[in-house]
Amino acid sequence: MKNYITTPIYYVNGEAHIGHAYTTFIADTLARHSRLVGNETYFLTGTDEHGQKIEEAAKKLEKPTQQFADEISATFKNLWDEFDISYDQFIRTTDPKHMQGVQAAFEKMVAKGDIYKDFYEGNYCVSCETFFPESQLMDGGCCPDCGRATTIVKEESYFFRLSKYEQPLMDYYEAHSDFILPKSRKNEVISFVKGGLHDLSVTRTSFTWGVPVPASLNDNKHVMYVWLDALMNYVTALGYGHDEAKMGFWPANTQLVGKDILRFHAIYWPAFLMSLDLPLPKRIGAHGWWTRDGEKMSKSKGNVVDPREVAHHYGVENLRYFMMREVPFGQDGDFSQRALIDRMNSDLSNDLGNLLNRVIGMSEKYSDFSIDSVNVLKYHTKEIEDAHAILGTLETYLNDLQFHRYLEELWKVFTIGNKAIEEHAPWVKIKEGRNEEALATVALVANLLAKASVMLHGVMPKTTATIADALGFEITTQNYQELIINKKLLQLFTIKKVPPLFPRVDEPLMQEAPKAMIEEAPKAPKEEKSLKTEAPSADGLIAIDQFFQTSLKIGMVVEAEEVPKSSKLLKLQVDLGEGTLRQIVAGIREHYSAESLIGTQVCVVANLKPAKLMGMVSEGMLLAAKDSDGLSLIRPEKPRVIGSVIG
Ligand code: MSP
Repeated sequence: MKNYITTPIYYVNGEAHIGHAYTTFIADTLARHSRLVGNETYFLTGTDEHGQKIEEAAKKLEKPTQQFADEISATFKNLWDEFDISYDQFIRTTDPKHMQGVQAAFEKMVAKGDIYKDFYEGNYCVSCETFFPESQLMDGGCCPDCGRATTIVKEESYFFRLSKYEQPLMDYYEAHSDFILPKSRKNEVISFVKGGLHDLSVTRTSFTWGVPVPASLNDNKHVMYVWLDALMNYVTALGYGHDEAKMGFWPANTQLVGKDILRFHAIYWPAFLMSLDLPLPKRIGAHGWWTRDGEKMSKSKGNVVDPREVAHHYGVENLRYFMMREVPFGQDGDFSQRALIDRMNSDLSNDLGNLLNRVIGMSEKYSDFSIDSVNVLKYHTKEIEDAHAILGTLETYLNDLQFHRYLEELWKVFTIGNKAIEEHAPWVKIKEGRNEEALATVALVANLLAKASVMLHGVMPKTTATIADALGFEITTQNYQELIINKKLLQLFTIKKVPPLFPRVDEPLMQEAPKAMIEEAPKAPKEEKSLKTEAPSADGLIAIDQFFQTSLKIGMVVEAEEVPKSSKLLKLQVDLGEGTLRQIVAGIREHYSAESLIGTQVCVVANLKPAKLMGMVSEGMLLAAKDSDGLSLIRPEKPRVIGSVIG
């Protein structure tokens, strides 16, 4: 199947911000997934370089307009290259081939009888490059979209017969219920069209920075309206009007836009295409805005988040994951560093990273890094079936552009893996000599990780390639077929140690982050505050409620390893019954071997602020007693349910 995916082309009046990155990440995810499943895929992005807005921005900087456009366009392209965006083409509207294509389209519209010459008088918003009828203006004649003052423009203009397409558009919306996604946006478009479509002024004489109308019109003072020019990029990129070699990719499968430009894409663009006798795209996906404190980001408000800075700080793939997981497609989302860190620590580090570390650790200990799936179905049919049931629903979410649901469901596969380890405790089975069962659980988890990585590839291409490398396979179309469609298991894994993929992010890193991203640190939990402020009384006694401010719990050591270059420290993964494991770095190596702790119960201080020891986060403390004879851990007299409260 051919699959053409586009982003809007970005104005070159300023550099990219997080909102632009969001659209591009989504398109890249769709394109990568599409290639993986074996579609012939074409992914287009680029820059929108004509119009009065760009001309004025260049003038302000006293730069030739083309030079200005070249410079800003390059910043977009460089950023996408830095972010490893897998576009097949980066189009620029100042490219002569594109301009030739736009002129060919204009000629065709003229031949069709859809273009006529008249006068236009109206209120024009330069920032939005749009005329607005009086009835739509806000107080003081301001633009209804951006709120800026409009100017009255009267000029000779060519018009496109948009009114002619009112009914055909309505018919199309009715017949194609998935044309506009999310579906909730469809009504908005329909009521706009129902309100009546005026013919559209599609040329200007008041400035020159645009595509001239075709020479055949013999009217060289007219340049084309920037939106006609810009929208045509989606087909000129495929060769429309010059070299039509790639036109086989039309119609596009998915055209992504922000909600502010949905009207142009869901009304003008389909009408232009109908005029050109070209089919309409399969779906227009309109996403919401990223905001700061509820306001749309914009340079003038000074509340823009620079995607390069965030990526530099937290990693581009973590940012991709966060943006797609955090906010349902179509809704606005406030960009918050804390929310990003929470996702990294909980979803990526705890759920995914830990699972991989456990597979690597257990395979090293129990089977010298080799894993065989031969007994997986003997012991874990249910887990494999559950995972396939989840994996089988994922494509639907992608088709509906429900990325947050896609990832939410995908994460359930990791939950199955984490649960299987906790329930089947391979370390206990090994101790009991039930090696076959223990190794089957490790192999189950390796398989779950392999399958989930394949489906996560579109969102986190490099990370999943590393996971695949650690598990000894590759993410390819063939493996997608085998692991996801044919539901096969990878027979033999040769595990490779990789450095932890998702080190937890702690408070200090947050404070180093770019200023625009820093939020107030969360208020310290009340109990912690009172612990610090309420000093013990003069006799050294504390009240009972002060004692209960310390959360003490029974935990089970699930994994333990020595910390390299430290004679004192052991790194433990402790189960406190919270669904995810806690990492605790404890100074007990001189008294306990790592091996001897696995599978034993300990008493944990569970509400300590995380701290770093030798660069590793520790999320709790073990209770122990020390005297001149040595140190011993405090343990329950009889094993207790994991997570039981001590006190
Ligand atoms: N040049 C036009 C598009 C022409 S497409 C034929 C344009 N460019 S833009 O640079 O202003 O915006 C490009 C995209 O970025 C739009 O989809 C817009 O919605 C999106 N975003 C701009 N600010 C945004 C946020 N704050 N959040 C999310 N997306 C935002 O419009």
